[in-house]
This record gives sequence, structure tokens and C-alpha cells, in this order.
Amino acid sequence: VWRVAEAAPADAMAGQLEEAAALLREGELVAFPTETVYGLGADARNTKAVEGIFKAKGRPSDNPLIVHIADENQLAELALPYPELATRLMKEFWPGPLTIVLPVRTGAVSPLVTAGLATVGIRMPDHPAALALIRQSGCPVAAPSANRSGRPSPTLAAHVLEDLEGKISGIVDGGATGVGLESTVIELPDSNTIRILRPGGITAEQLQSAVPEAVIDAPAAANPDVTEAPRSPGMKYTHYAPKGDLRIVLGEPANAVRYIQEQLNHAKTTPVKTGVLTFDERAAAYDADLILSYGSELHPEQAAHNLYAALRRFDSEGVQRIWAEGCSEEGIGLALMNRLAKAAGHQIVRV
Ligand code: TXA
Ligand code: MG
Repeated sequence: VWRVAEAAPADAMAGQLEEAAALLREGELVAFPTETVYGLGADARNTKAVEGIFKAKGRPSDNPLIVHIADENQLAELALPYPELATRLMKEFWPGPLTIVLPVRTGAVSPLVTAGLATVGIRMPDHPAALALIRQSGCPVAAPSANRSGRPSPTLAAHVLEDLEGKISGIVDGGATGVGLESTVIELPDSNTIRILRPGGITAEQLQSAVPEAVIDAPAAANPDVTEAPRSPGMKYTHYAPKGDLRIVLGEPANAVRYIQEQLNHAKTTPVKTGVLTFDERAAAYDADLILSYGSELHPEQAAHNLYAALRRFDSEGVQRIWAEGCSEEGIGLALMNRLAKAAGHQIVRV
């Protein structure tokens, strides 16, 4: 795999980004960092290239891709006229981790990108290498997260290679991504409603304070009885799952510690390898084969940043049973609990 080095000097980096942009123009697949997770990019207009994304990821073809742009001038060619509310949100949050689902202009992108829907999800990532790559390629760039379908999204170039080495033409290595969870995907069902299809880097609270008069429609993450058909096709698939059996424990910290330690004591009588995902404040409270920390409980954005790497680490250490402490669904906590609940196949224990 051709690879742009993380620590390359600025001028060398610029030359390498130019090479990566040329690959995209030629219909090749190039992974690149964004502020959320690594993306697997292809020219959104090139059906053969986009087909390559679905193949490399093993992704179901009914799950549409997000189109990445570097400049608002690219919008007119991609989307049909959209509500004023969308413009306000773009002004407030772009570049940034907000994907807005808009009516698609027929023929603007490969039909594989939209999976046959009449809409297209568009975002402008807040990462200098991503913006430079998109700008220099001259393409709208279709990019899902650069993991094999079902695995945790990549927050390091090494995660991308772990999943996709040999299946892609290049990778731009920008070191660890910032947010660590994917963008928030929204649709605008009417001029005053923001419906969150996937919680992510821009929180419901941020959306509300940017547009105080709007109604924000956001489903709870750890809700066990979500029966409504998912509107964002991607949300129905098992995702982010480690190989081991993962359970989320929700409740007062003291109760969570007591419950998890009981389970660990029980597992000690078996050959099963155990793991706990907790916060710095309680990392010393457990006796397990592998204890990983989200970071401090006082800074939930650290947990977002660290979650996927932790899930991958449980896999690489062969951990078979994992208990993860849950957290409040405020702020970035909603996205965190959404991903965790999916990773756990909604196995949630309330203590
Ligand atoms: O942060 C991110 O969004 C990352 C980086 C690389 O930009 N990308 C990402 O893409 O997470 P992906 O493909 O892993 O997730 C895209 C999500 C899926 O849940 C998909 O169903 C939804 O966006 N989506 C895309 N287009 C849509 C549309 N037209 N209508 C509804 N949902 C859509
Ligand atoms: Mg993904």
C-alpha cells in the first residue's frame, strides 16, 4: 500500500497529497483521516470506484455513503434546492462532524452512493489533510468509515491497514483522529425540525443552541425497545462489535463495580479471558485480565476518542467476555452510548 507518512514535512506532505488526489481522480480507493474517523474515499461520480468501496469493506449495497466536499460551491452540483435551515446549520457547523441529508440532484453521483434513495448525505470534514485531498482531487469524495463492515471504525492508520491492507491503493496517515466517533447524520423533515438519524460529533445540545426554535428529534441510545424501522439504512446493521461477548452495565458507579466484579469472580473459575472498559476513576477497582480506560469520567470526549481503539484492543488480546461501564446520554454521551449499545448487540444490564 502506498502511504503518506504522518510526520512528513509540509512540502513533502503536499506532494504526497497531490499523488493521493491523482489516485482518486483515476478511480482508485484512498483512505484518509478526518476529524471523526478515517474514511475510505473514492470519486463519488465513478460507479466502478464506488463499487470498489462496497467490495473492500464487505458493505451491504443498501447502505448509502456520505459525500465529502471541501467547498460550499460543490453543493449546487450535488443537491437540489434545500431549506434555509440546512444553510444555517452548514454555516454554524461546517467544516465539522455534521452530515446533512439533502435531496440529490439526479445524475450528480453514482446511484450506488445513494443506494437508490432520492437523498444524499453531505459533509465537509474539519481536517486539513482531508480538505486538501478533496480540493486537489476535484471530485466529490464518497467515503464511509475505512473499516471492514461490522468492525469498529478506524481512528488510526494502523486500524485501516489491519482491515483493508491489499484492498486499497493508498492511505494518508494523519495520526490519531480527534473526535473518535463518526459524524452526526441529520435529515430535515420540515423547515423547523432536525431529525438525528445517527448521533455523533455534533451533539443534540449544540444543534439546539444553534437553532433554538427548531424541534430536535433524537432517539435515546440505550433504549431497548426501538421497534421503528431505521430511517438511516446503516443503523440496522450490527456494527462496531468486538469478537468477545460485550455487555454494558448501567447504574450507580458503586453498583456497577459490585456487579462487574461479581461477574469477574465467577469467570475466574473458568478459562475465559475477561476484560473491563471503565473510567480512570475506577480503573483500580477491578480484577480482570485486561482493564482499559475510556479516560476521565469528567471528560466524556476522551471516551469518544478512545472507544474504538479499546474495542479493537480487546480483540487483539483475545478477550472473550467484556463488561463496559455505560455513561449518561448527555452531550457526546448520546453518540458514545449509541455505538456501545450496537457493539454490545443491545445487551445492557441495569444495576
Ligand atoms: O464521520 C463520518 O461520518 C465518517 C467519516 C469518514 O466522514 N463516515 C462514516 O460513513 O461514518 P459510514 O458510511 O460509515 O456511515 C454513513 C451513515 C450510515 O449510517 C448511512 O446509512 C447514513 O450515514 N447515510 C448516508 N447517506 C444517507 C441518506 N441519504 N439518508 C439517510 N442516511 C444516510
Ligand atoms: Mg461506518
